[in-house]
Amino acid sequence: MQQTYFMIKPEIVAAGEQKIGAILAIVNAAGFRITGLNMRQMDRALVEDFYGEHKERPFFGELCDYICSGPVVAIRMERENAVAALRELIGATNPEEAAVGTIRDLFGASLSNNAVHASANTDDAARELGLIFG
Ligand code: CMP
Repeated sequence: MQQTYFMIKPEIVAAGEQKIGAILAIVNAAGFRITGLNMRQMDRALVEDFYGEHKERPFFGELCDYICSGPVVAIRMERENAVAALRELIGATNPEEAAVGTIRDLFGASLSNNAVHASANTDDAARELGLIFG
């Protein structure tokens, strides 16, 4: 069974439990089992480490500010082929390019406010789960 990291971003958490519940229902219906979950205010240093691969990108500061702007829901999940399956379920990074019915199509507002994050590959999943869940 493969594990992956899933994160519901601040604008969705700020919008209330209904959207969080709707997103969790989608991943549950897709066969993911939640093995860890917490709502937390992310520390700036942790976010800079988490998104370290983007640190030279022009949007890095804005990205870190945004992720620290309010609590996120951090989730550890497992399923067969979990990493690729979750990436498919959430859709493209930019909600405008996300396939119809994907989580970012349904809940994303913009490239920076794209509702959720999911690990891009198995190495990232191990690294991100280690950072967030220890
Ligand atoms: P996420 O999957 O969490 O990984 C990095 C995030 O950077 C991405 O979602 C976007 O929300 C955010 N981002 C902001 N601007 C850009 C951009 N120009 N290209 C890619 N990602 C961006």
